[in-house]
Amino acid sequence: MTAIDTIIVGAGSRGNAYGQYALEHPRELRVVGVAEPDPVRRDRFVGLHDIAPDMIFNDWQSLLASRGKRAPTIINCTMDRFHFESTMRMLELGYDVLLEKPMTPVLRENVRLVQKAEETGRQLQVCHVLRYTPFWQALREVVDSGALGRIVSLTHRENLIYYHMAHSFVRGNWRQQSSSGPMILCKCCHDFDILLWILKQRVRHLSSFGSLAHFRPENAPEGATERCTDGCPAADTCKYEATKLYARDGFGWPLNAVSYIPTKAARLEQLESGPYGRCVYKCDNDVVDHQTVNMEMEDGATVTLVMNGQGDEECRTMRWDGTEATLYGKFSSGGNQMRIHHHLSGEIEEIPVIARDSSGHGGGDFGIVRSFLNALQGKPDDSVTTARESLESHLLAFAAEESRLNKSVIDMAEYRARVYADADDQRR
Ligand SMILES: NC(=O)c1ccc[n+]([C@@H]2O[C@H](COP(=O)([O-])OP(=O)(O)OC[C@H]3O[C@@H](n4cnc5c(N)ncnc54)[C@H](O)[C@@H]3O)[C@@H](O)[C@H]2O)c1
Repeated sequence: MTAIDTIIVGAGSRGNAYGQYALEHPRELRVVGVAEPDPVRRDRFVGLHDIAPDMIFNDWQSLLASRGKRAPTIINCTMDRFHFESTMRMLELGYDVLLEKPMTPVLRENVRLVQKAEETGRQLQVCHVLRYTPFWQALREVVDSGALGRIVSLTHRENLIYYHMAHSFVRGNWRQQSSSGPMILCKCCHDFDILLWILKQRVRHLSSFGSLAHFRPENAPEGATERCTDGCPAADTCKYEATKLYARDGFGWPLNAVSYIPTKAARLEQLESGPYGRCVYKCDNDVVDHQTVNMEMEDGATVTLVMNGQGDEECRTMRWDGTEATLYGKFSSGGNQMRIHHHLSGEIEEIPVIARDSSGHGGGDFGIVRSFLNALQGKPDDSVTTARESLESHLLAFAAEESRLNKSVIDMAEYRARVYADADDQRR
């Protein structure tokens, strides 16, 4: 196999996760360029991948403005709000693109991206990494085997551990609807995608409830200061106190989000002025901290998706009830579990989930890169997803948000027609 060259745009957390694939599999993928405005992140990345000076860019704009196409592929790991404009241009220039999810936080732009990929004939694959994990592939095989019978009802929970909620959706990048998008899109487009992929059918109707219940000024402890570093009287009793969470030496998430300089001192300095030192009750957050979505599938099965930001453990848990058996599952970096309780025999069957590698998201981070490379070489695997297929999961998330805000039930056929008509209007 000849290594495929790529440029990583956005050398943050995700850019490094995919860059790691190239470091571990140099015969399959070579990172030949980077576009990243933060000099610390950029220099570190250039050093790791030994990138030539003329392939180092300060941002995606200068990369795409520079003469022509500079490599066959781009992995676009910028923040959500940059995805649309940058990816449209990448596709126009002839790049095949692996794009981080969500595709874009603006509904009609999602349709435009799919149309652009189809018009240009380029591969646009969205990083719905769960499809590429041994866990979800095993669950799909169980359902396909018929062992559960016909699926009648299922509950799927996306449980965020409490500090992940605070880190990303209260203090951090995804805290505001206007700059990132509704939380149900940003956090759960994965979950919708995986459910559609396994059930192999669309949603007919959907409704949703949820709110920002906890991270509000009125819930702040008495006398709480604006920043945890200002001598807050609640420091010892608050589970979100920032120096407890972040003032540490070391590397990795979530410490790198505060500072890429891997020292306690550098992180403390950031906490005094940056977003992650703010009191979680006094931030400018407006996205929900809990939401449920109820769905009726085309065959009448009912599905409940629960997204919750007060978890004790970061994991997805699920229960699938079929006419023959019930499946219980837990997808967690602390250990996966899957077992089937057969109704007639009473037998309990453990389903082994064998790790393929130790990459993030249960092996999905490397799995998706491998799948992207295979598809580029004309060998698409079973998990590969087209941009149009990814679009459906995004539409469900946007519809859920509309339902939550309007307290309405959404007919998905009508909703799709409305979204497509709107995107066509914009195009004219
Ligand atoms: N697939 C998943 O499971 C998953 C998980 C987490 C995040 N994400 C998504 O990945 C994307 C990146 O998230 P992240 O956690 O890596 O964020 P991040 O902030 O760590 O990285 C984004 C990087 O983009 C850089 N950037 C900003 N402006 C830029 C520009 N004009 N040109 C080039 N780069 C620019 C930033 O400096 C930063 O280093 C987001 O869309 C996020 O929603 C996906």
